[in-house]
Amino acid sequence: MSIAAYDAYARQLETLVTDVAAGRWSRVADDVTHALNGQASAELRRMVSRADRRASGSFFTTGGVRQSYEQLLTRSTASVRSRVIWDPTCGGGDLLIAGTAQFLLGATPAETLTVWNRRVRGHDLHNPFVTVARMRLVLAVLERHRAVGSDAPLTEQRWRNAFPQVQVGDGLNALRQVSNSRGFGGQLLLNPPYGMDAALPGCTWSTGKTSLAATFTAQASAAMAPGGKLFAVLPDVLRSGSRYRAWRGQLTERLVLEEIRPHGLFDDHTDVDVFLLSAVRRAGGHPGAAAWWPPSAATTNRSIADHFRVGVGPVVDNRDPHDGPEVPYLTARELPGQGKMDLPLRRRRFDGRLLNPPFVVMRRTSRPGQGAKGGARGTGILIQGDQPVAVDNHLIVAEPLTGGAARCQELLEVLDGPKVVHWLDERIRCRHLTVTVVRSLPWD
Ligand SMILES: C[S@@+](CC[C@H](N)C(=O)[O-])C[C@H]1O[C@@H](n2cnc3c(N)ncnc32)[C@H](O)[C@@H]1O
Repeated sequence: MSIAAYDAYARQLETLVTDVAAGRWSRVADDVTHALNGQASAELRRMVSRADRRASGSFFTTGGVRQSYEQLLTRSTASVRSRVIWDPTCGGGDLLIAGTAQFLLGATPAETLTVWNRRVRGHDLHNPFVTVARMRLVLAVLERHRAVGSDAPLTEQRWRNAFPQVQVGDGLNALRQVSNSRGFGGQLLLNPPYGMDAALPGCTWSTGKTSLAATFTAQASAAMAPGGKLFAVLPDVLRSGSRYRAWRGQLTERLVLEEIRPHGLFDDHTDVDVFLLSAVRRAGGHPGAAAWWPPSAATTNRSIADHFRVGVGPVVDNRDPHDGPEVPYLTARELPGQGKMDLPLRRRRFDGRLLNPPFVVMRRTSRPGQGAKGGARGTGILIQGDQPVAVDNHLIVAEPLTGGAARCQELLEVLDGPKVVHWLDERIRCRHLTVTVVRSLPWD
């Protein structure tokens, strides 16, 4: 079930194009609708194993996230209707199809192709994806002509050679080459792979394993000429994770951020929260203020850090030796959904930093809008007792600077309040709460 298996779907689309290019719509009109809406993604799941999809970062933009993406384009592109669009990791072509929706039609499908062939660029590493993208673009042309009653037949020679700039190739390399020349002044459409890989040589904002999505976006921003536009679907961790602060800084130096919109889960099959970004390449000058978070989540008067020392639990269980004193050991497993708890029964030897109760812990992994065991997202649990505790690193710990248990009780109420729950969902939609985010939660 490697990606080569997807070639069967590419062949199926060629058969469909044969029919509609010859004007034989009657039995296949529904098939065309499916081919343009979600089928490419469903067939990918059916034909290619999850392991191969993950390894290659192949998740096509469909359903709700594609609709949001189309709205993002519509809000922004009135002035750039005549530009070239380019998806350097085009997959089955969903972003390109969304991008061509703004293009005007010629008098016939053949005339439209003459113009659009020059205006649509795409790269992907996998040949079946490229063929599927090209055939779906041809179907989009034919369907739009049919909708307005100008559906003249298209010769096989024309559709087989359509969209020649949608090619097999390494999009990262292509972006790099463009950034070394005059730059790309059109619209870059981007939903890159989300896996991790080594940061590129010379990268100034990361070292070691880094999100490929961050690498692609940074390279895309470098490839854009002044006035060029970027429309991206990206994993939410890039927007909200402290690990990517320097990446955000670099992007803000190069781009004016026009819109940043948290979306939620990519789709029902892909457990990753994403956000949508539209931006324009600066002509130069000074960076403006970047609104990586909605205004309600961006600033607060007083924050939790004014009253608590916030950090991650010190114990990395599979790495830290079982040396030192045997002490109560707190992990996420024994935590109740909310409220208070006494010292855990679980014990462990640990010679690192121990924490003295009372303190509050929060789970680092929690989904937007909900928490574990019935608690709200970000709910804290007050730990009380008279012995020092070893705390696992899957928990965030807040130790009161002053005020002891009473201050901790106040924190529980603050964390469960609607303001914090809303603030968290706006500011950080990815699974992991981070210390930076918890520190800056609004206190009042
Ligand atoms: C998350 S999918 C998105 C596809 C498409 N942009 C969309 O939104 O539907 C990422 C795509 O990037 C492709 N890809 C991964 N690395 C690439 C590279 N270095 N150059 C070009 N394409 C790449 C994968 O094959 C996959 O189709």
